[in-house]
Amino acid sequence: MPPVHEAAAQAQPNIALVKYWGKRDAALNLPAVGSISITLDGLWTRTRVRFDERLPQDRFVLDGRADEREAARVSRCLDLLRERAGVRWRADVVSRNNFPTAAGLASSASGFAALVTAAAAALGLPLSETEKSELARRASGSAARSIFGGYVEWAHGRRADGKDSVAQCLRAAADWPLRVVVAITSRAAKEVGSSAGMRRSAETSPYHAAWIAAQEDDLAAARSAIAARDFQRLAEVAEHSCLKMHALALAARPGLIYWNGTTVEALHRIRALRGSGVPVFFTVDAGPQVKAVCEPQAAETVRAALAATPGVLDVIECGLGAGARLIEAAALECAA
Ligand code: PMV
Repeated sequence: MPPVHEAAAQAQPNIALVKYWGKRDAALNLPAVGSISITLDGLWTRTRVRFDERLPQDRFVLDGRADEREAARVSRCLDLLRERAGVRWRADVVSRNNFPTAAGLASSASGFAALVTAAAAALGLPLSETEKSELARRASGSAARSIFGGYVEWAHGRRADGKDSVAQCLRAAADWPLRVVVAITSRAAKEVGSSAGMRRSAETSPYHAAWIAAQEDDLAAARSAIAARDFQRLAEVAEHSCLKMHALALAARPGLIYWNGTTVEALHRIRALRGSGVPVFFTVDAGPQVKAVCEPQAAETVRAALAATPGVLDVIECGLGAGARLIEAAALECAA
């Protein structure tokens, strides 16, 4: 057997329409609630994993630079795959994002979905998508969803070992090809990451129990809106879930304010557009960027309105895309 075992994969970020916020088990990264997301197209992480029996330790290079901070997380994720394969080989991991890392665009979701997909192939592990979703979840909750494309639901699950807390595709991207316009309102890394924010919210926010109690209704509403391709109903439940998640975080002690002034300005713009008949709604994650989801014919109007909002630094438009998949390692070396 050769000493080197290599594969490369691509995965795309996803954006939750019914949000995940809170864990039922922090060690296994099990969510306190189910969630529903859309996987994006156009933005990607490409990762090449090369297991080498001669390497003394794992190495992780992100966008051309050794990333010490993330290296431990990458190693822990690889440990789960090494354990399954029954090997101890260390790996050289090279990863590239074609969008800013840690800018609130879920780079950890695409990153760990790509890592698990590439590492499993490099080790010759014949894992199902469901098994990959479970392994990706252990590294970053939302990564469980980026294994799949289109409209995706990640189950809360009941089992203590988390085997049933995996994602599945609800509907293919091509069935309902909505567009997403992301308004970048800040390039600073966020002060409180999602895991710490979730913990603080669960421990101190008076709204935590109410958040958990209502999630099943929101999931059911989103599922049926997606099945019926009912934009207005999806808009209503997605904005509700987003604002409710932020209300929960705002009411923590000390309160978590993920927005800046431009974030709020952009939300008003989007509400005004919808009020005037443009099919668009917003969602915001644990950061200041605003994601506007719209029907394809409205994308140009939404893009122009957000670009003209004072304080918006940039707008990125994408479609809905596929799940994680293997690519030629050469595609990574040539990637811009
Ligand atoms: O799994 P994480 O650490 O990326 O947390 C995701 C949290 C939110 O983006 C705010 C919501 C979600 O469901 O993606």
